[in-house]
Amino acid sequence: MTDRASTLVIPSDFAFLVREGLTREGQKELLSKFLYDQLGSALFDVICLLPEYGLTRAEERILSRHAGDIVKHLPQSVAVAELGSGTGKKTRLLLEALCRRQTVSYYPIEISSSALASCARELNDMRCLSVVGLEREYLDGLLEVAARRAEGQRLLVLFLGSTIGNFDRGANGKFLKQLRRILWEGDFLLLGADLEKEVDTMLAAYDDSLGVTAAFNLNLLTRINRELDADFRLGQFTHEVIFNQRTRSIEMHLRSSAEQVVRVAGADLTIDFTLGESIHTETCHKFSLEELQQLAQGSGFRPASTWLDSQWPFAETLWVAA
Ligand code: TRP
Repeated sequence: MTDRASTLVIPSDFAFLVREGLTREGQKELLSKFLYDQLGSALFDVICLLPEYGLTRAEERILSRHAGDIVKHLPQSVAVAELGSGTGKKTRLLLEALCRRQTVSYYPIEISSSALASCARELNDMRCLSVVGLEREYLDGLLEVAARRAEGQRLLVLFLGSTIGNFDRGANGKFLKQLRRILWEGDFLLLGADLEKEVDTMLAAYDDSLGVTAAFNLNLLTRINRELDADFRLGQFTHEVIFNQRTRSIEMHLRSSAEQVVRVAGADLTIDFTLGESIHTETCHKFSLEELQQLAQGSGFRPASTWLDSQWPFAETLWVAA
């Protein structure tokens, strides 16, 4: 008997969204969530260790120093959901503090199955913890967690690593409002946000001297080549990082170093690139503290407390759903 599912040709979301991004008027674009296939997730773990990328270490310092304080703001019974857990290494610091007073249900929500697997491994030895990983988009996963919560139990949502900065301007507020609607009044959001700093420092964090971030960016083309039967020549695209003064964001691009035609058979697509034309692959917005305050209020939260790192401007802010 034939397996119908494997013989039906249904265009995947990936093919659809790649097509949409590469055929749009003006600036070509690829969604940054597609950076995180197995190789991309492994490269991202290396990015977090790079000397130029101070962000992860700043957040680790904040969490290791202040996890106890953060937990003091929370009521007795909380379940923890995390949007984009990555390896779970940073989260462990907070979960350990919570575990000192209760057993904890922890729900990492990830689109990367390899990240989810390494997160489960990282936390495997924590007896006080039950881990239920959800391979889902953020809000779909959070809806599921909210549906599973026990009577009277509060939710603490973790959104670390300044992923909130990876939304386009305006989209972060919209996302936070949608997130707020899934929560109950009195639930919590712990949000990690990278703050504005010297332009050279910000640029170097996304253009490291070992070239790991360049590889991470270019891997998106490798992924399209592999999964969508495309013929991108990696040598003809370069990793480029700029700071957009208007949006206060780092932008990552893949810039075509030749006039060229690329075929993406799996998306039924032929694309022309002019010399110097770019694909926009990621936005990393850098926040000010006032802006975070406004973002909280504008999306239905009350900021409860903020912790900062003394070496690398980064803010960990705890918000309460109002
Ligand atoms: N949330 C991370 C950030 O904005 C994601 C990130 C770090 C990233 N380095 C990157 C995304 C390089 C794309 C490319 O800092």
